[in-house]
Amino acid sequence: MSDSSALSTPDETAPLPATARAALAQVACCVGCCCGRVDRGFPPVPVERIKEVWKREKLNRTVQLTISGCLGPCDMANVILVMTAAGTEWFGGIEDEGVFTGVIDWARACHAAGVVLPLPAALERHRFCRFAAPSAT
Ligand code: FES
Repeated sequence: MSDSSALSTPDETAPLPATARAALAQVACCVGCCCGRVDRGFPPVPVERIKEVWKREKLNRTVQLTISGCLGPCDMANVILVMTAAGTEWFGGIEDEGVFTGVIDWARACHAAGVVLPLPAALERHRFCRFAAPSAT
């Protein structure tokens, strides 16, 4: 009798494949149906400025930038997501363009240092809980 489950179960001890485009962090900047939509009454997102800096300074090598469609929590617009090996952090309600400047400066500093540095305090003030707590039942 053979064990067919062994054929479909991945070897959990095997190292995961690695991408040649490994970054220290990734920032997703939402410009979906609400974030940045000044025509709908939301604060602006300086997306062209962000993209220009990232491209000119080649920050993607360290902090990958993703300009995304709707990330889901539109009630928290404007939303930014920061992903690192330590986890995913959500930030929302960003109305001050200076917060975006702080994210740019943080990415520059991470790029120069070659490590993930603490996030800017101005961004930390916008942290929110994205996921529902597990049900007690
Ligand atoms: S448009 Fe940004 S969270 Fe929906």
